[in-house]
Amino acid sequence: MTAPSGIPNGIPAEINIGLMGLGVVGTGVAATLLRENSHLSDLIGRAVKLKKVLVRDLSRPRDIDLPAGLLTANAEDILADPDIHILVEVMGGTDPAEAYLKQGLSAGKHVVTANKEVMAKSGPELLALARANGVNLLFEASVGGGIPIVGCLMNELAANDVRSIRSIINGTTNYILTAMAHQHTSFEQALSEAQERGYAEADPTNDIEGIDAAYKLTILASLAYRSTFQPGDVYCEGISKLEPQDFQYAQELGFAIKSLAIANLVDGAVQLRVYPALLPAEHMLAKVDGVYNAVEIDGSLCGQVLFHGMGAGREPTTSAVVGDLIEAARKMGGPSVLPLELPNGSGIPVRPIDDLMSRYYIRLGVADHPGVLAQIAQVLGDGQISIASVLQKDVHPETESAEIVITTHPAREASVQKALQIITELPQVRRVSNTLRIEE
Ligand SMILES: NC(=O)c1ccc[n+]([C@@H]2O[C@H](COP(=O)([O-])OP(=O)(O)OC[C@H]3O[C@@H](n4cnc5c(N)ncnc54)[C@H](OP(=O)(O)O)[C@@H]3O)[C@@H](O)[C@H]2O)c1
Repeated sequence: MTAPSGIPNGIPAEINIGLMGLGVVGTGVAATLLRENSHLSDLIGRAVKLKKVLVRDLSRPRDIDLPAGLLTANAEDILADPDIHILVEVMGGTDPAEAYLKQGLSAGKHVVTANKEVMAKSGPELLALARANGVNLLFEASVGGGIPIVGCLMNELAANDVRSIRSIINGTTNYILTAMAHQHTSFEQALSEAQERGYAEADPTNDIEGIDAAYKLTILASLAYRSTFQPGDVYCEGISKLEPQDFQYAQELGFAIKSLAIANLVDGAVQLRVYPALLPAEHMLAKVDGVYNAVEIDGSLCGQVLFHGMGAGREPTTSAVVGDLIEAARKMGGPSVLPLELPNGSGIPVRPIDDLMSRYYIRLGVADHPGVLAQIAQVLGDGQISIASVLQKDVHPETESAEIVITTHPAREASVQKALQIITELPQVRRVSNTLRIEE
């Protein structure tokens, strides 16, 4: 094919797209490619065409009318077609998505993916494969849906030494926590409402246990610290142990509770963690409610920058995927411009959670007897943990029990966990109801 004037030889005049997946995101991408075709072609400078769409079940009713002949259930119709130049993977999961991505890159196709799990687990390997084949691999939609955070870490913020990333990157958990804070509902009620509204899946484990956020934090931290982290490097706690009282007491103390994904640099090592934490109510992240996501970057040059927006959903995710597609198409014919040499990164070590220095919120059920608090204070003191405040709540005369909420000054995680083990065994202590870290 001869390229029209202005287009170097060797670059196709028409760029063909193979779309893998026609679900929530794929339908948005296909609709945009069909509806906005001439606009996209203008932006790219070449005609762009959706050539094949891979699904699992050809008989399933679809939200979109595709031109005849586009749909296939055979991945080879895309992977083995040399005229498909860009592969867009929005299937999800690792199997067979990862194998398809590898096959596509090896065949010299540029790849756009929204797949956080594959990018978190195998991103460095896939980026190396892309580089070896002289193609681009773009994954903006893998973190934060419509929030352009991946590209910013790769490009606009690349001059910074990133001191910390603090983020709310799972809309499902943020929706549940917002309902628990504002409507005073239990965790179970809030989860079932999220499921009814389509914000939580039938099996919500990945979201509520922090696994999804850990995938996304792995990607952000690998980019920010130019290193190769794995999801297993992220200390992870879910939100299912939170109770309405925690929100009530947090509010009384001037805090909100948010599930945070945090990466920060401490003495040359990175600490990576996902857990529900108390944040001062006036902090910007404390005000991020519902299914919204936000990412705060603290960089050596830019200072604190906050990204806020829709972290999931058809349109926001389509925005990220099609944005990557435009970028991949514009860069075709040039060198592969992969952001980072992740496999040869600086290899920053990961600091274990035991080394974390944090303030803590501890809620205990105790016998309503004199001297209990003194015993608890003694154990904390022995562990070098200094108390910042104590609230005695909800005395129940009939059971002679009370609830105590203690906040501490900064202390070492390992010391706090050891002290809590001793406190749990004190005869007057009925239960340690919850322990949460306090982010300043
Ligand atoms: N949904 C969001 O808001 C969102 C946001 C950010 C990132 N993402 C990421 O985007 C990706 C897609 O998410 P989604 O919500 O669009 O998923 P989805 O609604 O479940 O759609 C998945 C699509 O992939 C197809 N598919 C799955 N396995 C297949 C296989 N083995 N062979 C052929 N086709 C297969 C399915 O075909 P059938 O239709 O025939 O079943 C379906 O069309 C995931 O990696 C997800 O993490 C999603």
